[in-house]
Amino acid sequence: MNKERIFSGMQPSGRFHLGNYMGALGNWVKLQHDYECIFSIVDLHALTSSYADTSQLQENIREMAIDWLSAGLDPEKNIIFVQSHVKEHAELAMLLGMITPLSWLERVPTYKDKIQNLSTQGKDLRTYGFLGYPVLMAADIILYKATRVPVGEDQSAHLELTREMVRRFNYIYNKEVFPEPQAVYSNAKGLPGIDGRKMSKSYDNTIPFGASPEEVEARIKMMITDPQRIKKIDKGNPDICIVYQFQKVFNTSEVEDIERKCRAGEIGCVQCKKILAEKMNVLLADIHLRREELSRKPNYIREVLEHGEKRARVIAEKNMAEIKAAMNVF
Ligand code: AMP
Ligand code: TRP
Repeated sequence: MNKERIFSGMQPSGRFHLGNYMGALGNWVKLQHDYECIFSIVDLHALTSSYADTSQLQENIREMAIDWLSAGLDPEKNIIFVQSHVKEHAELAMLLGMITPLSWLERVPTYKDKIQNLSTQGKDLRTYGFLGYPVLMAADIILYKATRVPVGEDQSAHLELTREMVRRFNYIYNKEVFPEPQAVYSNAKGLPGIDGRKMSKSYDNTIPFGASPEEVEARIKMMITDPQRIKKIDKGNPDICIVYQFQKVFNTSEVEDIERKCRAGEIGCVQCKKILAEKMNVLLADIHLRREELSRKPNYIREVLEHGEKRARVIAEKNMAEIKAAMNVF
């Protein structure tokens, strides 16, 4: 059986939230059954923007491993490891850097935006490492000759650049060393946060992944509904209601009924929120319990990551030898 190989990564940059799960991790959990999957906690990528304060890095790596396992990624089925533990990622990024035109990196649309955005948080991203972010990402993917890469649509420019790098490498060294990887976009639209903007850690509008049932309820209580609606018998407008957005995602079986009752003034916001909390907790209460259990097993988490590292290294070393041979680097 020859399954296609998937590679994907996530930066360990702080508390994981439901938006990350709906947009990315939930998709990985499904893909693990049909593909040979390699998933990496990309700590070197985290360093490209958070180099000045690394005090939380190890904690964030451990938390991310716990998030992945509690979501249902199987550490036997998939290779799960920390990027910096397999040195070939850094080595290949260095070699790819030799053939990467500066102009390709400077024209990545997110590059200048992100420098601007993060400078308001006091981060100076005018660094060599940050400019090279897409080169490191290309190295991650092609080191394993992955053919499919599940990512959010925000990563499409990075993936296009990876494909260009593959064509350039194969052309310059006159050998089909790498396949061109393809993006796999999850069809989940961006999940809104509890204030209606995109759910994001920097807006403080998230529902943390693995939140307890009480936390979930508290966050739902804070969601803004139709402000014109004072009493239950007032007719509501679900189109401007955040709870409704969530019902559409987490309560597909009842959402139509709820919408009708809301418009007719037959269901109140308090009750609607209660229904949503119950639905979300069916999914999240389990994850919350698994998270708590895994948090008490630091040795197990370490073993999972070591096991993944060994398996990743076998592939990385083999491919690296081939890459270096193509470049006459011995
Ligand atoms: P970030 O934490 O922003 O670096 O995103 C990590 C991954 O999660 C990316 O692939 C995003 O596409 C996805 N993601 C982040 N926030 C959301 C959101 N609010 N809704 C859906 N997907 C998201
Ligand atoms: N840049 C990706 C993100 O922010 C993370 C990432 C790093 C990645 N290396 C990768 C994703 C390789 C897919 C494949 O979401």
